[in-house]
Amino acid sequence: MPRPTLRSEFCDRVGVDYPVILAGMGPVAGTGDPVATGELVAAVSNAGGLGVLGGVSFSPDELREEIRKIRSLTDKPFGVDLLLAPNFLFPRGKELLPTAPNRDRLPKANLEAIARIAKDLDIDLKEAPGEEEVMGSWIEQGKSWAGSQVEVILEEGVPVFASGLGTPAPFAQELKANGVTILALVGTVHAAEQVAADGADYVVAQGTEAGGHTGRIGTLALLPQVIDAAAPTPVIAAGGIASGRALAGVLAVGAEAAWCGTAFLVSNEANQPDLQKDRILAAAAEDTIVTRLYSGKTMRNVSNLLIEAWEREGMAALPMGAQGALIRDLAYSIREAGRHELLMNAAGQTAGMLKERRPAAEILKEMVGEAAEILGGGLGQRVTASA
Ligand SMILES: Cc1cc2nc3c(=O)[nH]c(=O)nc-3n(C[C@H](O)[C@H](O)[C@H](O)COP(=O)(O)O)c2cc1C
Repeated sequence: MPRPTLRSEFCDRVGVDYPVILAGMGPVAGTGDPVATGELVAAVSNAGGLGVLGGVSFSPDELREEIRKIRSLTDKPFGVDLLLAPNFLFPRGKELLPTAPNRDRLPKANLEAIARIAKDLDIDLKEAPGEEEVMGSWIEQGKSWAGSQVEVILEEGVPVFASGLGTPAPFAQELKANGVTILALVGTVHAAEQVAADGADYVVAQGTEAGGHTGRIGTLALLPQVIDAAAPTPVIAAGGIASGRALAGVLAVGAEAAWCGTAFLVSNEANQPDLQKDRILAAAAEDTIVTRLYSGKTMRNVSNLLIEAWEREGMAALPMGAQGALIRDLAYSIREAGRHELLMNAAGQTAGMLKERRPAAEILKEMVGEAAEILGGGLGQRVTASA
């Protein structure tokens, strides 16, 4: 069977066959490893899309290893996604933002709320062992977490960089000088203007439908506004795109490509525990909820009893970093108790249309085939010339 052709300028610039990008999806519940690891990245790139590694939780050494693994699995282009939120950008010890404060520096009222929630859910609250070590020795050397990761991206010659949170400004010049294509995710028109001015080669307009960190504006409302505001910087659409129909829709609106996370969440190659995949498969479109519980920023998850209990408390979340420290003991205790259904399970509203586990290549090919058919055939017939 001939392969469908569906191209945009993005494909030519980045060197991929199809305007479909695997979103760089970060840590999985309970393991700390990303959903989008080397296997999934390579599967999408080998199938003609652009695979993007969810790199945020990797130490620089781990990131280098994973990039080399991707290269051993594919000779096609791929990208790396990082979070450039403030607490990933500043060395610890500067007191600028509490990257991971100790328990005794967290507000008492918030700690009490967590203790209440644990009791309600019948979780024996234990202290997680050791210090928060996620951002280890690179910070001690005076470099930021993200800065050390970007260094690896440059050294390894990664062709595409995506900034998931925050502006790429601190690294844009160096990335561009090294020929790296920069994508930057935004959820508002204002942020789109900002990242375009700060050097993004593509603005990724992400609607509230999206899994993971997300804003308040729907994709179809956001996308045309971002296209207008960011011009002449081209725009990629994200949030709620898990079918060829939706892909055709955003290309018709003017997107250069689609950035898809949830569509690949239950793919065979996605690094997710079975329980999390099953909960996503069982979820209906309305079963996801936006909460600040897990990271301090608004994040869409498959709902669970822990999120419901946190939302009932009505307590303002702490800033990113501090909120993670606040729930660290609780998350540890949940894992110890084997109550994995209460762990983070980020997914978008398209979870409702995922019916089975499949190879990532099959998901991609189906989306592309369906979009090509719509755009190349049926849709044009709706336009009739008037006399
Ligand atoms: C499990 C999961 C983890 C995610 N982790 C990240 C991340 O580390 N960095 C990032 O930029 N976006 C992350 N996202 C958001 C995605 O990059 C993407 O914007 C979103 O999934 C697109 O919407 P969709 O889920 O409707 O396809 C994550 C999304 C999910 C579902």
